[in-house]
Formats: sequence, structure tokens, C-alpha cells
Amino acid sequence: MAKLCIIFVLCSLVIISIVAAGGLKKGPEAVEKWFTNIPYAKEKLTKLHFYFHDTVSGNNITSYSVAQSNMTFKSPTLFGLVSVADDPLREGPEPDSKIVGRAQGIYSSASLEELGLLMTLNFVFTDGKFNGSTLSVFGHNPVFDKYREMSIVGGSGVFRLARGIATAQTVWYNLTTNNAVVEYTLMVLHY
Ligand SMILES: *[C@@H]1O[C@H](CO)[C@@H](O)[C@H](O)[C@H]1NC(C)=O
Ligand SMILES: *[C@@H]1O[C@H](CO)[C@@H](O)[C@H](O)[C@H]1NC(C)=O
Ligand SMILES: *[C@@H]1O[C@H](CO)[C@@H](O)[C@H](O)[C@H]1NC(C)=O
Ligand SMILES: *[C@@H]1O[C@H](CO)[C@@H](O)[C@H](O)[C@H]1NC(C)=O
Repeated sequence: MAKLCIIFVLCSLVIISIVAAGGLKKGPEAVEKWFTNIPYAKEKLTKLHFYFHDTVSGNNITSYSVAQSNMTFKSPTLFGLVSVADDPLREGPEPDSKIVGRAQGIYSSASLEELGLLMTLNFVFTDGKFNGSTLSVFGHNPVFDKYREMSIVGGSGVFRLARGIATAQTVWYNLTTNNAVVEYTLMVLHY
């Protein structure tokens, strides 16, 4: 009897995890079902690595400043400058490297004394098994530091209820054009 119970429990767990793995259906019922399966789902760790290509001038601009304060251009840190970006996330640092997603959102100069950005971005993945899933990043980005850590505060699709850390490291920054390529490594906990 005990054995039968164990087998039954094991079978249920297998079925539940198969349903959970294949269960990326959308819609309110699908999301509700997904939440009711959480007690049986195992949290997993996913590492993501890509390059953020921020083009603010020249050809193919993908980030535009949209607002400033009346002292922004007198400020050594461009305090108050707000930009909206739809920057490609690429596999490599080269400008023609394959696109795996977009960084869509707002970054603002929010520090009076150093160049420190408030980042509020969605990483919208467009390739492979993460296609259609997103991660939301919120954090402090002192752009001249070697490594910057930002919080991953949530996600959607395969990244529902995600949390984690994004580490950014500038690969190159052109002082004339202000264009930059930044390497991002993400450690993400999700189900
Ligand atoms: C801009 O985009 C066009 C079309 O995708 C491409 O042919 C061109 O090489 C790009 N220019 C730069 C500077 O990346
Ligand atoms: C900037 O705006 C503030 C508040 O509206 C005002 O007090 C200040 O005089 C303005 N400064 C300049 C340089 O225009
Ligand atoms: C990503 O998903 C969209 C929408 O489902 C689809 O049109 C597109 O072809 C997919 N892209 C890749 C590279 O799989
Ligand atoms: C920065 O960009 C300018 C204009 O495109 C270019 O002439 C210059 O070589 C670049 N500097 C570096 C260090 O890549």
C-alpha cells in the first residue's frame, strides 16, 4: 500500500512537471493554472549572456533623449536627462552580431555627483527558447564603474516570477558619438 502511494505520488509529480514544462500557454486561465502548480515546480537558475548595443548618434539610432531639466546641460553628470531606448541585444559585441532580443525602456541621469543612471528596462527576448519572454531590470548604473549590478525584479513567459542580478560591463564607449556596447551577464532564478 505504502509502495503504491509512493508510485502514485511520483507519477503525479512527473505528470505535473511535464504539464509545467509544456505549459507556456497564455491567458488568465493558463496563468492561474501555472500559479497553482508552483508548489510542485522546482526553482531553476538560468544564466544569460549578451551584448547591449546603445546607439545615440550616427546611423541607426536606437536611443533618443526625450526630456531634460533646465540645468541638465550645465550639469557635469547631465542630471535630469531622460532617454528612451529600443536597443538591440546581440550575441556578440560586433555591430552585425545576431540579435537575441531588445532592451526597451527608459534610462535617466539620476546622480548629481557621478554619472549614474537609473535603469528601467525590459529585456524582450526574440530568439530561441526565450522568444516572447521578458525580464524587467531596475537598478543603479554608475556607467564608469567596471562592473555594475542591477536587480532583475520580474519577468513574463518562461520568466514568470523571475528574480536575479544583471551585471553590466562596458566593452567600448566612444566619447565622440556617446555610442556604447555593454556586456550583460544575467543570473536568473525562475520556475
Ligand atoms: C544601419 O542599418 C542598415 C539596415 O539594416 C545597415 O545596412 C547599415 O549597415 C546600418 N548602419 C550601421 C552604421 O550600423
Ligand atoms: C530652473 O527652474 C527652476 C524651477 O522652475 C527655477 O527656479 C530656476 O531659476 C531655473 N533655472 C534656470 C537657469 O533657468
Ligand atoms: C519568435 O516568436 C514570434 C512570435 O511567436 C515568431 O513570429 C518568430 O518567428 C519567432 N522568432 C524566432 C527566431 O524563433
Ligand atoms: C568614435 O567615433 C568617431 C565617429 O564615428 C570615430 O571617428 C572615432 O574613430 C571613434 N573613436 C573610437 C575610439 O573608436
